[in-house]
Amino acid sequence: MRISGVDALELVRTYGTPLTVVNVDAIDAAIAALHVACDRYKTEIAYAAKAFFCVELARHLTGHSGLALDVCSLGELVTAERGGFPANRITLHGAGKSDDELRAALERRVGRIVVDSAAELDRLAELRSGDARLDVMLRLNTGIEAHTHAFVRTGGDDTKFGIAQNDEAAAAAALLAHPWMRFAGLHAHVGSQIYDGAPFVANSHALVEAAARFASHGLVAERIVIGGGFGVQMRPNAGGEKLDMVATIADVARCVRECAADLGMPPPNVGIEPGRAIVAAAGTTLYRVLAVKRQHSRTFAIVDGGMYENPRPAIYGAHHHVVAVTGHSSERVEMTLCGRTCENDELGAAVLPKNLAAGDVLAMLATGAYTFGMAGNYNRLPRPAVVAVHAGEHRLWVRRETVDDVLARDTGA
Ligand SMILES: Cc1ncc(COP(=O)(O)O)c(C=O)c1O
Repeated sequence: MRISGVDALELVRTYGTPLTVVNVDAIDAAIAALHVACDRYKTEIAYAAKAFFCVELARHLTGHSGLALDVCSLGELVTAERGGFPANRITLHGAGKSDDELRAALERRVGRIVVDSAAELDRLAELRSGDARLDVMLRLNTGIEAHTHAFVRTGGDDTKFGIAQNDEAAAAAALLAHPWMRFAGLHAHVGSQIYDGAPFVANSHALVEAAARFASHGLVAERIVIGGGFGVQMRPNAGGEKLDMVATIADVARCVRECAADLGMPPPNVGIEPGRAIVAAAGTTLYRVLAVKRQHSRTFAIVDGGMYENPRPAIYGAHHHVVAVTGHSSERVEMTLCGRTCENDELGAAVLPKNLAAGDVLAMLATGAYTFGMAGNYNRLPRPAVVAVHAGEHRLWVRRETVDDVLARDTGA
């Protein structure tokens, strides 16, 4: 198996397992494909850093001059800063921002902030010192329900995210009371892994209608941002797992134009915030098999990863395709892949060589989004390294954690 021209086994020998391999060529190709869909409509693209982020990725993304960045914590912001990502292209998100995060926005360490509640506008005013000015977007709860897994759905009526329509007038009043906050537009995000363009169109329609309501308060939204959630194919042969990005962005642009014309207002600019669509396919996790066991009715392959470094299969049944890098018998059997933690941390079912044994290497595909970023230290296990591959070369982006790293904050260690 080669990833961007690099032999997977060479990576295993050099960096060990479990290993997160990031194919930088695939990231660049995903960004280029988004530009094909977006540029003709001047739709702005911001990468949602929560999907996967580290200093070297931030540094690499600075080279994509047409790309903005969304961060949702001080940690993500400092990562962007250390990678040299320009502040004016960064937007700060978050449903519950700390005082430090609000201060970072007031100090203009970001280009704009997306405020999640009317109360957050008051907190910004309390924390302001001097003559700080700020570009402010408001995140709304448009009530658009994307048909996806309930646990990762946001933006519906009954979630914590965004400002409900009932609270819009209070948010408008707070903005008008603080003219140093420049109203920069409206935002809503409707979910994850959406393969149908319709929720994005419905969301943009709802945002333009909301823009008309804010215009009636004298607040003109120059921009609407329809969030991320653009679906990525996870199974090699699942035809339905595909979002037509070109058609979706065209439909959104048409909807915004027509809806704004109906409401007698100029069409706002449109922005999107893809995370998964930029990094998911670029990630591969390489695992070493630690044991293969035939139990009552299933064969289990236990690998050296698990829910500590890849929690999504356990949290909400996320599926990843798995292939064998070694262990090539022509006869294949279905196995249940498990991690090594003291939980039933099944990572999914996979059809693997019958002679698979301890020491073999497996590759889990499309782990670029929400895998490394969600990793933790359950069982005091150190998190994997991240290596970038690019045009046949490999380079360490994040070193492997050690047991000493895991113990670093223990007093008395
Ligand atoms: C506000 C916001 N924007 C963008 C994203 C990125 O979503 P995705 O990675 O599914 O594109 C998320 C994900 O939760 C989000 O909450």
